Amino acid sequence: MVEFKKPTRKNTGFFVKMKLAHRHGRLQPQQEKSNPCFKYYKWLLWVSLSLYFFSSYFISYKPIPLSKTQYFSKSTVVSRALFESTNSTFLQQPDNHQALLKDLKIYVYELPSKYNTDWLANERCSNHLFASEVAIHRAISNSDDVRTFDPYEADFFFVPVYVSCNFSTVNGFPAIGHARSLLSSAVQLISASFPFWNSSQGADHVFVASHDFGSCFHTLEERAMEDGVPEFLKKSIILQTFGVKYDHPCQDVENLVIPPYVSPEIVRSTPQKAPLTGRRDIWVFFRGKMEVHPKNVSGRFYSRKVRTEIWRRFNGDRRFYLQRHRFAGYQSEIARSVFCLCPLGWAPWSPRLVESVALGCVPVIIADGIRLPFPTTVPWPEISLTVAEKDVAKLGRILERVAATNLSTIQKNLWDPAVKRALLFNNQIQEGDATWHVLYALAQKLDRSHRTVMVLNK
Ligand SMILES: *[C@@H]1O[C@H](CO)[C@@H](O)[C@H](O)[C@H]1NC(C)=O
Ligand SMILES: *[C@@H]1O[C@H](CO)[C@@H](O)[C@H](O)[C@H]1NC(C)=O
Ligand SMILES: *[C@@H]1O[C@H](CO)[C@@H](O)[C@H](O)[C@H]1NC(C)=O
Ligand SMILES: *[C@@H]1O[C@H](CO)[C@@H](O)[C@H](O)[C@H]1NC(C)=O
Ligand SMILES: *[C@@H]1O[C@H](CO)[C@@H](O)[C@H](O)[C@H]1NC(C)=O
Repeated sequence: MVEFKKPTRKNTGFFVKMKLAHRHGRLQPQQEKSNPCFKYYKWLLWVSLSLYFFSSYFISYKPIPLSKTQYFSKSTVVSRALFESTNSTFLQQPDNHQALLKDLKIYVYELPSKYNTDWLANERCSNHLFASEVAIHRAISNSDDVRTFDPYEADFFFVPVYVSCNFSTVNGFPAIGHARSLLSSAVQLISASFPFWNSSQGADHVFVASHDFGSCFHTLEERAMEDGVPEFLKKSIILQTFGVKYDHPCQDVENLVIPPYVSPEIVRSTPQKAPLTGRRDIWVFFRGKMEVHPKNVSGRFYSRKVRTEIWRRFNGDRRFYLQRHRFAGYQSEIARSVFCLCPLGWAPWSPRLVESVALGCVPVIIADGIRLPFPTTVPWPEISLTVAEKDVAKLGRILERVAATNLSTIQKNLWDPAVKRALLFNNQIQEGDATWHVLYALAQKLDRSHRTVMVLNK
């Protein structure tokens, strides 16, 4: 179920009043206790109110030119000093995580519903593997701490455009042919009606590109590479599922690798026939597309023939449970498996990476050069195995060796709840979850924020 908290008022002129209304209108009783910022907000409110009376005559419905006054509206000087002093030792202290995120403010543009929520009419839109574009928007919108309704106090601007929900009536796959034009029109809209895009040239604006080749917006790598990142997005920050460790035109932009979307409810409700640590009766699992005779699609073969090779070598091998057809209950199969193969498809990444981790099956990553999400929290080399594409024929021997040596170590690392938490998106941001990691990464990019620049130049 998609749950969006809608702003109760549209008039962006009355920021202070809105803040008051939202604080009180939106807090659920169970959230109240977990709101350490309350005291801070009282203070903020006081400062804002004084400012409100001082500067209210500037404020009208139309966005107004940047005014220095706005930049006092927060304990900016103190908090910025904190950011400047950060170093890696500092970041390793959990308390400091809190400090780093406490002051982060994101303004979520309220775009006409054709850019986003109209697509939710199809229930798949918020649940399929590309749904992080919906999940991040939802989580930030629902956050009392990080969301600001005052764009002048925002460090970053989130532009919520859903491009992956135009499902083909023929094959059910999302058609993303309209993605560039939809995004471009959204950018035109916000740059014409607000001053913030022009002030930073979009450098502090954040977009999600959660399908195959991320910010290139094409499903075929060949075409994606030719098209590249749209010119109008090149200065912005893109949250994308696509990532490789080598140069690639589709990551030629400030980007952050995020996990593919896997519904936390489905993970939670998957029958845990085998408890995390219990006996798993499938040794090696893979279910998905494996072409026996892969087609040459403009010079490229699906999965660079890796899946074909897996099928040829191990179909019929009793240790391997390989299935080529869709099955809705496949996640319960993952929960029964020791090793889960995560070979590339057209793109290197797949939701199997997240599903395996979430359900305690050791991911066997076969996708040369893949860049994985949140490597500082998720110790990928310790919780997964990586097999080179060229070594796929030796998979049986490689996994036998691991089973005989370090499998239990890998499983122990994998079953750390923090790892699983980091890869799942929740409706409400939870400390350490996927959206939290996105915010954490943004907090380290504050030098891109136009607001920070203004404060430092003052
Ligand atoms: C990082 O911060 C810690 C404590 O805040 C300090 O002891 C350390 O010297 C700093 N390291 C660097 C490289 O600045
Ligand atoms: C959805 O995709 C189809 C097929 O690519 C396209 O014709 C149609 O215009 C798209 N719809 C929207 C609203 O962009
Ligand atoms: C931003 O720049 C564009 C193109 O230069 C211009 O058309 C638009 O009016 C500007 N927006 C604002 C709010 O000034
Ligand atoms: C695949 O097709 C391309 C043309 O699209 C051709 O140039 C190439 O030689 C083909 N590759 C193989 C291995 O058949
Ligand atoms: C487990 O052993 C394999 C070699 O058999 C090695 O590649 C891998 O890095 C090891 N993993 C851990 C976490 O020790």
